Amino acid sequence: MDYFNYRDGTLFAEDLPVTRIAEQFGTPAYVYSRATLERHFRAYDDALAGRPHLVCYAVKANSNLAVLNVLARLGAGFDIVSVGELERVLRAGGEASKVVFSGVGKQPAEMRRALEAGVRCFNVESETELDRLNQVAGELGKKAPISLRVNPDVDAGTHPYISTGLKENKFGVDIAEARRIYASAARLPNLDIIGVDCHIGSQLTNVSPFLDALDRVLALIDELAGDGIHIHHLDLGGGLGVTYNQEKPPSPSEYMAQVQERLGDRKLEIILEPGRSIAANAGILLTRVEFLKCTDHRNFAIIDAAMNDLIRPALYSAWQAIVPATPRTDVETKAWDLVGPVCETGDFLGKERELALAPGDLLAVRSAGAYGFVMSSNYNSRNRPPELMVDGDQVHVVRQRETLDDQMRLEACLPE
Ligand code: LLP
Repeated sequence: MDYFNYRDGTLFAEDLPVTRIAEQFGTPAYVYSRATLERHFRAYDDALAGRPHLVCYAVKANSNLAVLNVLARLGAGFDIVSVGELERVLRAGGEASKVVFSGVGKQPAEMRRALEAGVRCFNVESETELDRLNQVAGELGKKAPISLRVNPDVDAGTHPYISTGLKENKFGVDIAEARRIYASAARLPNLDIIGVDCHIGSQLTNVSPFLDALDRVLALIDELAGDGIHIHHLDLGGGLGVTYNQEKPPSPSEYMAQVQERLGDRKLEIILEPGRSIAANAGILLTRVEFLKCTDHRNFAIIDAAMNDLIRPALYSAWQAIVPATPRTDVETKAWDLVGPVCETGDFLGKERELALAPGDLLAVRSAGAYGFVMSSNYNSRNRPPELMVDGDQVHVVRQRETLDDQMRLEACLPE
């Protein structure tokens, strides 16, 4: 459920018509809904009420400071994968003690900063990372809290680029090796084992892969207890899918009900790392039609947003709904390819979409709040769009539209 709905023939973001937002701020522009972010976060938090838990929003999905701040105010934790994400969380008012640090390539300086800030847990992805972290923690005279990311080898049944729980992926350690690696971690003096974590992939629309992974991880936790290694928390990662088109993913409460059932009377704290399911449907990308160009083969609507603004369609053949701000009936509906101005054939946001279009029309690309702006670039020297956040009938600029000066600020010509 989100707060982008039609009222009297116009698309609204909460209580504001998107037409007014586009007139005020221009296009392309990302528009987020505070109420939607809050609703999605609370769905997780409420689903785990009654059990110790921490919902660590995956910062990579949308790392705008205002997004992080809205969630921090609700008590969110954060899943980060770089020191840059850590600094964003801290600047947005998040607490280091609620941060888990994932990622396969943590650098010593990143570990140092995270230890000094006091993150809750390092999600360690390899044996060599354990050694590095042990050393860095020792140099600082600290103990690093760790969990091992295990790879339970389940097929998440999702796009191969976003499936991460299979043996052939670069993530985590093979669950069959985990007991041995935990035992060696227990011998390292500057590490403190507190958890186990896994993340099997993204955009899952079915709970069964999650439950398969959970069964394997719980078996590991029981074995570890037998080895004298007591696990305090279980981090199940993120990955719950969203509705882009017709998908019907389980709700956080359906998913968590099944998780809780399997946990039985184990006293584990549950950590989750949802990204997409909190942010995706809390954002849209507004774009205007520049030209219509019909050939014998296809109808192209050339819009002012492009693959540099939203790369998911080009990169994953992802389908995102594209809807008119004010649907019109005065022109015929045709199948349009919505393409941007970038010089690449892959520069499309949608193909063969049945729409009634005229030049100048305002469109909204739905589900653009996650993996949207964060994956944007300046390709073709295009300024990245602004990010706006609607809160009721107010709209706030939470990132300004880039200027060409912004783009070129870090560059220089050679000396004369
Ligand atoms: N935790 C870890 C360790 C992750 O690697 C990810 C996502 C998450 C949590 C959050 O997963 P989510 O709840 O958002 O599914 N750019 C791709 C998605 C890449 C996901 C990478 N990892 C896309 O646009 O579909």
